[in-house]
Amino acid sequence: MSGEPFYITTAIAYPNGKPHIGHAYEAIAADAIARFRRLQGRDVRFVTGTDEHGLKMVQTARAAGRETLDFADEMSGYFQSMCAKLNISVDAFVRTTEERHTAASVAIWNGMKAKDDLYLDRYEGWYSVRDEAFYEEKELTEGEGGQKLSPQGTPVEWTVEESWFFRLSRYQEPLLKLFAENPDFIKPDSRRNEVIRFVEGGLKDLSVSRTSFDWGVPVPDSPGHVMYVWVDALTTYMTGVGYPQMDGDFARYWPADVHLIGKDIVRFHTVYWPAFLMSADLPLPKQVFGHGFLLARGGEKMSKSLGNVVDPMDLAEQFGVDQLRYFLLREVSFGQDGSYSPEAIVTRCNADLANNFGNLAQRSLSMIAKNCDGKIPAPTKPDPADDVLTATVHDTMASVTTAMEDLAIHTALEAIWSAMTVANGYFADQAPWSVRKTDPERADTILFRTVDAIRALAILAQWVIPDGAARILDLVGQPLDKRGFGDLGVALVPGTDLPAPAGVFPRLELPTDA
Ligand code: MSP
Repeated sequence: MSGEPFYITTAIAYPNGKPHIGHAYEAIAADAIARFRRLQGRDVRFVTGTDEHGLKMVQTARAAGRETLDFADEMSGYFQSMCAKLNISVDAFVRTTEERHTAASVAIWNGMKAKDDLYLDRYEGWYSVRDEAFYEEKELTEGEGGQKLSPQGTPVEWTVEESWFFRLSRYQEPLLKLFAENPDFIKPDSRRNEVIRFVEGGLKDLSVSRTSFDWGVPVPDSPGHVMYVWVDALTTYMTGVGYPQMDGDFARYWPADVHLIGKDIVRFHTVYWPAFLMSADLPLPKQVFGHGFLLARGGEKMSKSLGNVVDPMDLAEQFGVDQLRYFLLREVSFGQDGSYSPEAIVTRCNADLANNFGNLAQRSLSMIAKNCDGKIPAPTKPDPADDVLTATVHDTMASVTTAMEDLAIHTALEAIWSAMTVANGYFADQAPWSVRKTDPERADTILFRTVDAIRALAILAQWVIPDGAARILDLVGQPLDKRGFGDLGVALVPGTDLPAPAGVFPRLELPTDA
């Protein structure tokens, strides 16, 4: 298992504006999973990027009075800064306007063409620029004023143009077989059921090129056609590991272990994408996980027109990066929708980070600084209560691993934080401050066991709160090369000099304008 490759991707966002909290949520979740696997010793590849082709980008840039590429350059830069700011440990960031990506898109196109899965015809039907998606009449609803709307509630327009088509209809049975044989291919199960129903309803061939604009990857040998934006966007997952070169990284990391995406784009990833790959004779990803949506305060959908879009950079600035990461992953059941409010962030972070974790570290380490000459004390006077604490903390690894097999991130965090509560209970019950008066050896032992539990808990928490956990590990003197999950059972060394204790998770205050 150790050293085995693990490949995870996020969706690549449209850089038609600055990143919002939904984008940050997805990046943070994928980062936590990537870090978790690295701590297990896996050889992780984590790819994200920006989806820069298509009509939506053209129209948004035009409305801003900008050249499309110039606009995409600037906006993609904000997504890259967001990754840096939020500690997103990406290995590769792919922009679909890069040359290496054109090569990958052309290669998969040619693979589908060689199978006779592409043919020229005329598209006549509905298109939503906002979703960059074709819809059938029967999927549409009527909005106020009789306007036709997509299932996502976005406007659609009647489109007629010459187009290449992909023989999606050929893949109905192979897809249903794929879903039946691989129950974990689409997660969570509710999304899987929706997709199965959709495919059982029959698949029409898919329009895969556009001729009414030229902002896209040119279709090989077909002047005037650019690829439908989703064909090139999905291919990014392979560009990120070196495709169309088939050896090296591609051979090592493809197929992806998880494509992490939001629930609104599950159909593209679980119907179109596997069909394109089957057609081009390429291996299929192992799993597509459709996470829920992050809703604004009060459970409203976030949208520019409602004016409730939250800038993740502001939140990180206001509350802290670890705090934002922890809040989003702990508060929302992963896979379901969740909502955000400043009050909820403050309450959650003060309880779990400042009190449960930070205070315990601060109090125990201050006692060591004061009473043990700033060195890890020796555990010379054990008590059965000590082993209960150590066992509780170490057993947490098993619960966390099980939860993470299903990407139940919130459950994994609940397990780690309930072990912290046990550590706090131990410290309060054992009361080393009062024991020291009569039995200094026992007091030293309690302090040793407490900080050793803190060490293990910080190792367990690193994938969610990388900065704070690393600072706590520095404070307990844990060597940098001994911070993997495999090091959990190796206790601290008595006599090790510790740095001066310092607070790690400050108490948060509610902003006055909240
Ligand atoms: N460009 C396509 C994805 C192509 S992947 C080959 C796209 N871009 S997007 O910018 O609209 O969305 C990027 C990701 O953010 C998607 O996974 C989407 O579901 C997710 N989210 C967008 N809004 C969100 C929330 N409010 N909450 C959580 N995730 C959200 O779709």
